[in-house]
Amino acid sequence: MLEGKRILLIIGGGIAAFKSLDLIRRLRERGASVTPVLTVSGAQFVTPLSASALSAQKVYRDLFDLTDEAEMGHIELSRSADLVVVAPATADLMAKMAAGLANDLASTLLLATDKSVLIAPAMNVRMWEHAATQRNIATLKGDGVLTVGPDEGDMACGEYGPGRMAEPLAIVEAIGAALADGPLKGKRVLVTSGPTHEPIDPVRYIANRSSGAQGSAIARALMALGADVVFVTGPAEAAMPAGAEIIKVETAQQMADAVAAELPVAAAVFAAAVADWRVTSASNSKIKKDASGSLPSLSFAENPDILAGVSQMKKGRPGLVVGFAAETDDVIANATAKRKRKGCDWIVANDVSPETGIMGGAENAVTLISDLGAESWPRMGKDQVAARLAAKIAEALG
Ligand code: CTP
Repeated sequence: MLEGKRILLIIGGGIAAFKSLDLIRRLRERGASVTPVLTVSGAQFVTPLSASALSAQKVYRDLFDLTDEAEMGHIELSRSADLVVVAPATADLMAKMAAGLANDLASTLLLATDKSVLIAPAMNVRMWEHAATQRNIATLKGDGVLTVGPDEGDMACGEYGPGRMAEPLAIVEAIGAALADGPLKGKRVLVTSGPTHEPIDPVRYIANRSSGAQGSAIARALMALGADVVFVTGPAEAAMPAGAEIIKVETAQQMADAVAAELPVAAAVFAAAVADWRVTSASNSKIKKDASGSLPSLSFAENPDILAGVSQMKKGRPGLVVGFAAETDDVIANATAKRKRKGCDWIVANDVSPETGIMGGAENAVTLISDLGAESWPRMGKDQVAARLAAKIAEALG
């Protein structure tokens, strides 16, 4: 996938810089060549010698190095790669990028390049959550900069939260997605995935057994064909598809709002197991056991049907709308009726009876229902179902 690809890797100054050395190794294992650029503060965390030894390339460091300029000018350096990757992308580097500054080698390369740029942000939680950084990341995304991470977890500074740099393998996956050249190149495809959580009170919620595995696999398969994927996900167990634009939500209503905000798209795949109902009697404080032993009662309202809403849009409807039907009885008949009722183009129907082990499992056995009728696929891995579905989508979008 990365054979022969040239990556210009800008290593910013952060504790996560040590992971960039592993990233160089992983990229080279996959046949890519890596030219490292160390910022002044990056060189405080990894030595030029290690970056050079691992990449087997010259390491670039300072804008005004006359020898470097004679060998390869910074403009040429910024354009000789297939992709520019910034890992770790510090708050400072992101701010420079967002403002269009060019006062050192890294920022100059980023301003001069005509190639796609992928950043892996890494910083303290507060710095990540600061309004300035959030403004900068929104600006960068708007400028077409691709992102991977940050992850949530324990940080070197002792705090917990979002800000950890994505793991090297996730960055490799995102690089693969950014460089993927296929029939879906330049097409924006939306995927919903995972369960939704409908709160009962601040600590309790109603959920379902969806792991999000099929949705993540579909997002990856679409990216492998070159698509730009917007991934709207409920709280899922499955690993996120690195390289997609990831939007995390909890409730069905939030998912509906996020989907509406991301339209228009060329195609939309609704793989999420959206809760049909929300609790209207949800309490803002924890519901306590009643001393008299009386039981709480919940009242419900129906959630917006996101798939039906998008399928029935009069203006700006995606060119292809794909829904899922999780059924336990009369799978094909129920799913065929569901396709008509919701107005989507295709339904991917599956039998989620507990004995099939499909919900939460690694395999899936699906029937694709379209206006051509029902096409049953043999039981296969969720990755294979995803690849076959992505290929069909590419064919349909032509
Ligand atoms: N879906 C959605 N919004 C909802 C409910 C479902 O977008 N509020 C989408 C799911 O992502 C899936 C499809 O609709 O693509 C089918 O969901 P399913 O739960 O099987 O169908 P329901 O409409 O809930 O029908 P029923 O419960 O009667 O089987």
